[in-house]
Amino acid sequence: MDNPVLTLRPESPADYRAVEALTREAFWNHHVPGCDEHYLAHTLRQHEAFVPELCFVAEEAGTLVGSVMYAKAHIALDAGGRMPVLTFGPLSVLPARQRQGIGKRLVQHTRTLAAAMGYAAILIYGDPAIYRRMGFVPAERYGIATADNLYHDALQAFALQAGALDGAAGRFVEGDAYAVDAEAAAAFDSQFPIREKREGLPSQLRFLETLRMHRPR
Ligand SMILES: CC(C)(COP(=O)(O)OP(=O)(O)OC[C@H]1O[C@@H](n2cnc3c(N)ncnc32)[C@H](O)[C@@H]1OP(=O)(O)O)[C@@H](O)C(=O)NCCC(=O)NCCS
Repeated sequence: MDNPVLTLRPESPADYRAVEALTREAFWNHHVPGCDEHYLAHTLRQHEAFVPELCFVAEEAGTLVGSVMYAKAHIALDAGGRMPVLTFGPLSVLPARQRQGIGKRLVQHTRTLAAAMGYAAILIYGDPAIYRRMGFVPAERYGIATADNLYHDALQAFALQAGALDGAAGRFVEGDAYAVDAEAAAAFDSQFPIREKREGLPSQLRFLETLRMHRPR
């Protein structure tokens, strides 16, 4: 049987719940026991930093299999002032469809749009083993540190315009678009089917490893 066609299209309000459910599937027990990313997907849409034009889903035979959401952030420049940039997340692909190129397609498609919209660059936190395969480089290469002034291997950059990050040394500031209220997240999660929380999984150990990949600037 032929593989169904995978379509990328903007998220619409009718997708909200399905995107939250797929985000929960993708992240459940992945970084930590359980997950909050479906709650983040829910709250980010209401946040002033959210960029709806870049919120895309991947759909296959009427089922959502992937999703990406973006927010505005900035670099607090060493030279003074701020450079507006984008960050993305949650980026989610259903477990059964992971490692088949869907995440990369979502990122490539939306960053082409972001470049056409005039954004300078994307800065993200994520596993460098994944994002270097999507063209991201360590932010340290441009002299960009975390908000608390650490060089972190998980902080990675992609210039959307040639030379956009030259002279962008400074600190990446994500703002509070991804801040989680633990109680509200737990209440939100209770609307979904109960799932077992598990500890000590290889993906959780890898996440802890990536959290430690930093040094003072
Ligand atoms: C991370 C995620 C979005 C990637 O999407 P995907 O469709 O599975 O990834 P792709 O198949 O497009 O892979 C893109 C590249 O990354 C690599 N890659 C993907 N997952 C990887 C992993 N866990 N470890 C190492 N490399 C990985 C692939 O080999 C591929 O490289 P290639 O193009 O050179 O072959 C998806 O696996 C997912 O939803 N994971 C759980 C949630 C998560 O971790 N989200 C991101 C949080 S930062």
